[in-house]
Amino acid sequence: MSDSGATSLPGLATLADVGRDAVRGGYSRHLFDDADRTLREWFVERASRIGLDVERDRNGNLWAWWGAPGPDALVTGSHLDSVPGGGAFDGPLGVVSALDALERLIASGASPGRPVAVVVFAEEEGSRFGVACLGSRLLTGGIAPERALRLVDAEGHDLAEVLAGAGVDPAHVGRDEQALGRIGLFVELHVEQGRGLVDLGAPIGLAAGILAHGRWRLIVRGQGNHAGATPMGDRRDPMVVAGALIARVPELAAAHPGSRATVGRVTAVPGGTNVIASRVDVMLDARAEDDATTRALVAEIADCAAAAAAERGCTVELVEESWADRVEFAPSPRAELAAALGGPPVLATGAGHDAGVLAPLVPTAMLFVRNPTGVSHAPEEFASAEDCAAGVDALEAVLRSRLRGAA
Ligand code: GLV
Ligand code: MN
Ligand code: MN
Repeated sequence: MSDSGATSLPGLATLADVGRDAVRGGYSRHLFDDADRTLREWFVERASRIGLDVERDRNGNLWAWWGAPGPDALVTGSHLDSVPGGGAFDGPLGVVSALDALERLIASGASPGRPVAVVVFAEEEGSRFGVACLGSRLLTGGIAPERALRLVDAEGHDLAEVLAGAGVDPAHVGRDEQALGRIGLFVELHVEQGRGLVDLGAPIGLAAGILAHGRWRLIVRGQGNHAGATPMGDRRDPMVVAGALIARVPELAAAHPGSRATVGRVTAVPGGTNVIASRVDVMLDARAEDDATTRALVAEIADCAAAAAAERGCTVELVEESWADRVEFAPSPRAELAAALGGPPVLATGAGHDAGVLAPLVPTAMLFVRNPTGVSHAPEEFASAEDCAAGVDALEAVLRSRLRGAA
């Protein structure tokens, strides 16, 4: 389905072969790797072809402008990076739809009236450096540049090095008042990451809010040793602690209705089949209706980890890697979008977005496109050609309704 999905819009079809992951399936496109660079080149080329002027901001985000960049800009877009083995839609759908909608507006003879831009945010998934929405967090000051620049990828390269290699000066990374001050309204179109619109029988929806969420590293330390020579009773094995903890996570989350807790990645050091690990990092993603519940759930998981570690002669350390407050999208741009679109359904989401990072600072709204599989962050993520077309129509209608002096 990912193959047919990648062709749901002609623009997505163009990208169908970029960053395919032969091992995991789906796509792996991470900040400034070959696939991400190819996608960025495609964006510059496509945006230029329809008459937009492309610039890269101080944090590696791309902006394609219709009309001179300036205040009160109408901004739409999303991201081009993916999770490891992700689907074709999460991110690129919002970028391709934005370019399609803008191309149609330009072709119809509409005049910008106010600046309009398509944005591509860098490292939205946090798959290379561990912090989601890194480009928009840097732009808004949601992460300190000193901390961000020290983030390290799986190969040991830090962000400073990777940015410099891509021509982004690490010395100028950080909150960008100029770029932020230009945004009059940000609208992100995104594939829905659930079955809300399927159940409602609607191709398009508007976002209500985003669950509070974050990522934590539980570092379990024990004693590395020989798998054959160490009697079972003499072991301090952090992998056994990690296993016991992970088995408890679902019931701990279930005690907080509506919350979600996931261990999607475990790293063993040194990582040999015949070696008792000395250290295991358990990567936790936790989300809930509100900030306090999310933090309470993580504290309970950490307590459980500490108890499991103590029982087996190990220790555990909890490190918060990222945090995002609960987001409520403001009723005012949403009501205006709803009026332009004939009142589509309004849905909450458990997925994080750059729109959520921008929402506390600038007027922000989100449009969702129906996903019949309800699956996301996996190759089965899907949206039909008809629903993708409805998404472009909706975005065009929204842009048109917000352009002063549009034809
Ligand atoms: C991004 O899609 C996230 O919700 O983690
Ligand atoms: Mn995602
Ligand atoms: Mn996304």
